[in-house]
Amino acid sequence: MHEGKPSQTALRVATHRAAHQLLDRPKVLDDPVALDMLGPERAQALRADPRSSETSVIARYMRAFVAARSRLAEDELGRAMERGVGQYVVLGAGLDTFALRNPHPPEALKIFEVDFPATQAWKWELMAQAGLAAPDSLTYVPLDFHRQTLAQGLERAGHDATRPSFFSWLGVAPYLVPEAVRATLGFIASCPKGSGVVFDYMIDPKGMSLWERLLLKGIGAVTKASGEPLRSHFEPAALAGELDALGFSQTRDLDQAAINGLYFSGREDGLGVGRMSHIMVGWV
Ligand SMILES: C[S@@+](CC[C@H](N)C(=O)[O-])C[C@H]1O[C@@H](n2cnc3c(N)ncnc32)[C@H](O)[C@@H]1O
Repeated sequence: MHEGKPSQTALRVATHRAAHQLLDRPKVLDDPVALDMLGPERAQALRADPRSSETSVIARYMRAFVAARSRLAEDELGRAMERGVGQYVVLGAGLDTFALRNPHPPEALKIFEVDFPATQAWKWELMAQAGLAAPDSLTYVPLDFHRQTLAQGLERAGHDATRPSFFSWLGVAPYLVPEAVRATLGFIASCPKGSGVVFDYMIDPKGMSLWERLLLKGIGAVTKASGEPLRSHFEPAALAGELDALGFSQTRDLDQAAINGLYFSGREDGLGVGRMSHIMVGWV
């Protein structure tokens, strides 16, 4: 991340979510504020030409993946709440809009958005431009996963560590060193019973085709140029084993077939996710 600058990858995925609202039917993620969150000029440009978001050969796959992972996180949050979870921690929230669409009152669900201070300040500017106010249920937690512990950041923000929480961690693990990914998973595993997590990660390039490895190289070059180099990838079975060893149960690893089966089956437009990233769900 360029010091003091907002995350460009956050803008990129938010643009995919907004484009999904305009281009895809049926929608996998219904997000009425996704466009507004981009700020008036970007929103207007995207409305005028939604395909302008398709800047690479993998743009459709990325759009599908970004929509699916948010949808899965929100579906799993619903399940967690049915079991009594009342705290939702959005790790590396970027321009995530769930807090603005949250149908639950603050007594039922408190939301904590964790991200770099510069990305949070930029999000507030965009929200102000769009006339979107932060709801009472939302608390911002400024933090760098590489420099501070999540436990300290959340404690300072008033998170109740004695009660279970649900964590979403979308599009963040690939930008962290493996130790930081493991430290965060370790922290979540130490949370009270009933806590859970949804996160996505990049698979080991050794498991990719030559074509996918070339694509990955291109993606890595673009994110590196914006100060967000790709830093970790995992082998799915080994990662699931690590979660089990940390004390997670009902660990579920969703690959391309599982994600497409869940959210993209029977579509006429052929929209679906690619193979390079998986989504993992685990419960404490
Ligand atoms: C690709 S964006 C994903 C944003 C959001 N989760 C979404 O799906 O729209 C990655 C986010 O992780 C945040 N991030 C990356 N590295 C971080 C770190 N070391 N500490 C805190 N936040 C970080 C970035 O600022 C950015 O908002």
